[in-house]
Amino acid sequence: MEIFIDSANKNEIKKWIDCSVADGVTTNPSIMFKDGVLDIERGSKELADLIYPRPLSVEVTSNDPKEMLEQAMAISKWAKNIVIKIPIINADGVPCTNVIKQLEEEGIKVNATLILSFGQFILAVKSNATYASVFAGRVEDEGHDSAVLVSQACEFLSHWPKYKTKIIVASIRGIRDIQESAVSGAHILTIPPALINKMADHRNTRFGVRTFIDDTAKAMEAAKKKP
Ligand code: E4P
Repeated sequence: MEIFIDSANKNEIKKWIDCSVADGVTTNPSIMFKDGVLDIERGSKELADLIYPRPLSVEVTSNDPKEMLEQAMAISKWAKNIVIKIPIINADGVPCTNVIKQLEEEGIKVNATLILSFGQFILAVKSNATYASVFAGRVEDEGHDSAVLVSQACEFLSHWPKYKTKIIVASIRGIRDIQESAVSGAHILTIPPALINKMADHRNTRFGVRTFIDDTAKAMEAAKKKP
């Protein structure tokens, strides 16, 4: 299983890339804005360079499929390791499957994004997307079980190994989502840095380290007093 960092925060990305926990990075326009990246072209080039040769997902910002295609062509030239995020449908419900197919035919890798149903997932796979991002948190927001959707997606691909699409579990909101997804068979989890830090932390581990250090000091004191 691979872990991508769902962020545009360079310090956090570098931290997890350097220790080889992270295998790539995903962004979207909202993440870029939240992390202070106002110039998407410059920010994307810097991030792509920072994590090279690992993949960086950058999203198109148009609602028009024709414009998406043009934008995607331009964005893909910013760096060799950029993957283009195309929503499975646009804001008006128009399928963007043809954009995905055309980009993949041009050799441009696509991350089909905002996938909230099994039907959408199948369409992303059939359009030959390199990645399909299942938005677990947003599925749960609607009262559905994202684990069911992820396991359906995994099962589908296991029946049809000829499809190249890799499942990314995105929109992860908590440690439980991470643990469930990690055993689901999904290829990739994209996780916000705050949650990776939370994965690492445990109060009893901190307590254990503190106790061992304290007891070492006590032993050294005792050794000094021994004749
Ligand atoms: C990643 O590719 C997605 O853009 C991201 O996980 C979305 O998360 P959200 O639903 O918390 O906005």
